[in-house]
Amino acid sequence: MSRLVVVSNRVALPGQASSGGLAVALQAALEETGGLWFGWSGNIADDASGQLHEQTAGNIDYVTVDLSRADHDDYYNGFANRTLWPLLHFRMDLVDYSRETWEAYRRVNALFADRLAPQLRDDDVVWIHDYHLIPLASLLRERGVRCKLGFFLHVPMPSSDILAALPHHGLLFEGLSAHDLVGFQTSRDLERFQDYVRLFGRGRVVEHGVLETASGRRLRAGAFPISIDTAGIERQAAAAVGKSSFKRLARSLSGRALAIGVDRLDYSKGLPERFRAFERYLQRYPDQIGELTYLQIAPVSRGDVLEYQTLRSELEQLAGHINGGHAEPDWTPMRYVNRNFPHASLTGFYRLARLGLVTPLRDGMNLVAKEYVAAQDPEDPGVLVLSSFAGAARELDQALLVNPYDLDGVAAAIARAVSMPLEERRERWEAMMACLRDHDITDWRRSYLQTLRAA
Ligand code: F6P
Repeated sequence: MSRLVVVSNRVALPGQASSGGLAVALQAALEETGGLWFGWSGNIADDASGQLHEQTAGNIDYVTVDLSRADHDDYYNGFANRTLWPLLHFRMDLVDYSRETWEAYRRVNALFADRLAPQLRDDDVVWIHDYHLIPLASLLRERGVRCKLGFFLHVPMPSSDILAALPHHGLLFEGLSAHDLVGFQTSRDLERFQDYVRLFGRGRVVEHGVLETASGRRLRAGAFPISIDTAGIERQAAAAVGKSSFKRLARSLSGRALAIGVDRLDYSKGLPERFRAFERYLQRYPDQIGELTYLQIAPVSRGDVLEYQTLRSELEQLAGHINGGHAEPDWTPMRYVNRNFPHASLTGFYRLARLGLVTPLRDGMNLVAKEYVAAQDPEDPGVLVLSSFAGAARELDQALLVNPYDLDGVAAAIARAVSMPLEERRERWEAMMACLRDHDITDWRRSYLQTLRAA
């Protein structure tokens, strides 16, 4: 069997806790087959850009590359996270574009291509991940790489008019079309990509999922909803009940129900709206006051980027405002925590929570939603309140689906979840769990790689 080579900007190096669904999912996929994981080392080396590091743990070889301060600022903080990220999340108001950061994006992709190409064998299968590395495949091809190249976009594909606002959208399309297979999270993302191809004259859609570019190159495109290690999370969450982190949190609730949110501190996650909706809930449902404590875990993410700093201040202000206005001497309605927790503790927290709040304004998939469901106690499962703008809503349609902009609607869903009878909770949970058992991380990896190998 050919070797699997995974390429992503963020690599979960052995012994490092990482927040973000991508690293968790790729770790699970690679552990199963073994192979090579290539990406950024996480180091910012002032003038040693391109320095390689190699290590092996279990069946995975890790090869990572350092970035210079300037490259990191302009490629990662700049083009990836101030241009592409907001654009791909439908936030044109937040897009900051400059030719300088675009050049850095190309430069770092070329650096990745220079360092990766010599590592590759002709029978490898290379799987490139996410918006940081869209041009990489075409740069690898220019360096003579002949093996199968696949791409998976973890974030949403926006509608074509939004994409076309980007000055270099044509070059990004060229990058995507150098692959043998381009994968998206949902069929909606795939449809928007096909619309772009048609409307902007990039080529033709030969049939659903098969494209021919204007220069005559054929490639496949498909929807492959990413998932979780469902059985592993079930086991982990059941075992977490005996852990001190679980017991400590349970004790601190003094018998009150828990609502939990776990998100990177990112504007796509809809946190200010969620905080306001929680306040609306406190105002509109006074009979439930004191019954529910809301724990929001939000590890700081991309903290060098201005929009993330602004968001952090806004959330601090809102959390203080909500607690100041609604707390009792012996109870604060919300707990707001900016640090990360080991995955095994988080799954225990999910199990303890009567309510999972996952209300992004836009999200490619959202694996917290799936993990929350898988972590529940089958005898007494909690309720997922889920944004219909998360990719996960297409599969988890037995959650209480909400529009995150509709604060009254989210408040009503929280109130409904708090008082939902056990029988209804079980029915909804079983339907969602059946889907997660059928479509777990192994199924995702296999179906993507089978399609890539056959492409
Ligand atoms: O899943 C989307 C994503 O942007 C990944 O590409 C990324 O690794 C993760 O979120 C976390 O973000 P970051 O790597 O910037 O910390």
